[in-house]
Amino acid sequence: MANEANLFQNLISHCKEYGYIFQSSELYDGLSAVYDYGQNGAQLKKNLRDEWWKSMTQMHENIVGIDAAIFMHPTVWKASGHVDNFSDPMIDNKDSKKRYRVDHLIEGFAETLDKAKADELIAAMEQLLAKDDYSGLKKLIEDHKITCAISKTCNWTDVRQFNLMFKTEFGAVASENPDDNIVYLRPETAQGIFVNFLNVQKTGRMKIPFGIAQTGKAFRNEIVARQFIFRMREFEQMEMQFFIRPGTQLEWYNYWKETRKKWHESIGIPADKLRYHNHTKLAHYADAALDIEFEFTFGWKELEGIHSRTDFDLSQHASFSRKKIQYFDNDLDENGKPYGNYTPFVVETSVGLDRLFLTILSLAYAEEKWTKEDGTEDSRVVLRIPAKIAPTKLAILPLMKKDGLPEIARELMDECKGSFMCFYEEKDAIGKRYRRMDAIGTPFCVTIDHQTKEDRTVTIRNRDTMTQERVALSDVKSIILKAIS
Ligand code: GAP
Repeated sequence: MANEANLFQNLISHCKEYGYIFQSSELYDGLSAVYDYGQNGAQLKKNLRDEWWKSMTQMHENIVGIDAAIFMHPTVWKASGHVDNFSDPMIDNKDSKKRYRVDHLIEGFAETLDKAKADELIAAMEQLLAKDDYSGLKKLIEDHKITCAISKTCNWTDVRQFNLMFKTEFGAVASENPDDNIVYLRPETAQGIFVNFLNVQKTGRMKIPFGIAQTGKAFRNEIVARQFIFRMREFEQMEMQFFIRPGTQLEWYNYWKETRKKWHESIGIPADKLRYHNHTKLAHYADAALDIEFEFTFGWKELEGIHSRTDFDLSQHASFSRKKIQYFDNDLDENGKPYGNYTPFVVETSVGLDRLFLTILSLAYAEEKWTKEDGTEDSRVVLRIPAKIAPTKLAILPLMKKDGLPEIARELMDECKGSFMCFYEEKDAIGKRYRRMDAIGTPFCVTIDHQTKEDRTVTIRNRDTMTQERVALSDVKSIILKAIS
């Protein structure tokens, strides 16, 4: 059995072997920090996205969903501050020519220290980052003799900022000024919501407070992309902007902070594996921000961001587009007067779908070993994915390929497949088929055997307990529906 350090590597191999995640363009030796989701991964990702979408748009009467385009007018990114500010401090090693994100370089080094020293170093780094003190950061790296992983030297350039947005050209018409044709691949989905604020508010007759949610791809030219799908160059976000009355941001910030943590718990993440981390250095748009962190095998890391974004984005878009972006609030204040016109404030919740996927798989992946009643050893690799989000809910397995068993199995398949994902398999010994379903994370297997023909009962096997129970064939569908609801 693997130790903690190897578990993560084993999980990555498992994802490939069982159709969850493949390296992008693997045929051509892959593309760094870009991944494809296979048949099981795509379904798990969809289930997570659907859960989020439902919790936002169906369970909140005042939140609606949109689907904005990835390409946006380039001025959007000027207005949002991304052209000027969306950069990370980087440092290059002069010998290997390798570039590092300063915080990643220092954090990586801190992991090799004992806890007290690591905490001290991280605190010093955070203070310098908060002050944009680049020479201080370089000195910190040199004082701790932090070396490049490749050259093993401490021969560093000065710390500089690099923009993370991908640029491309739009349309075929050549322009004298090449900047005219530039468009960016969106680095966050949020701006598609801000520029549609008035469209949605007016057409949906939305009353503040209300939210706009969307899921979709975002792109960042991460310099150091690490830890599998934790930090990717193309990833998916699930974001919700909650538009509120100015002055109420703290109340809503606290509301969403708690609501979002509870949501993560509701999809099976244990509370003790989640914690809040308040930002000391705030993004250019925020007056308060925190991360909901998860304890990955490689440490506590950001899973979701909750940001109080003030009226920064709407005001910026009003100013750059020269259009009025305001809301008329006819509710009455404590003096009995309507609140009137104002630019709404925003509290944002933003979670990475791929990071959530990695969280769920990290929790689910288990290598198990036990001694059987006859004294022999047995083992399995299992994905204990909560039933409600597992890609396949039920495997339907006729014990043999004859004697009318496949026909009964097919009838059950037809009865269930309209309601949830089922998988039919008649090849191989039943034990081997169970192991394969464990590895994919299928919570229930139903076996149709000769007794089924006599009394219309089947065995239903629970993935987590490996126990089997005899139930009526006619009850199977409702048992599974209950377990996944
Ligand atoms: N609209 C706000 C925003 O984009 P962020 O903290 O930069 O805030 C939000 O990103 C979430 O998106 C993060 O909490 C993380 O889950 C996910 N995310 C950000 N960069 C990522 C990357 N390179 N790869 C995978 N997920 C990423």
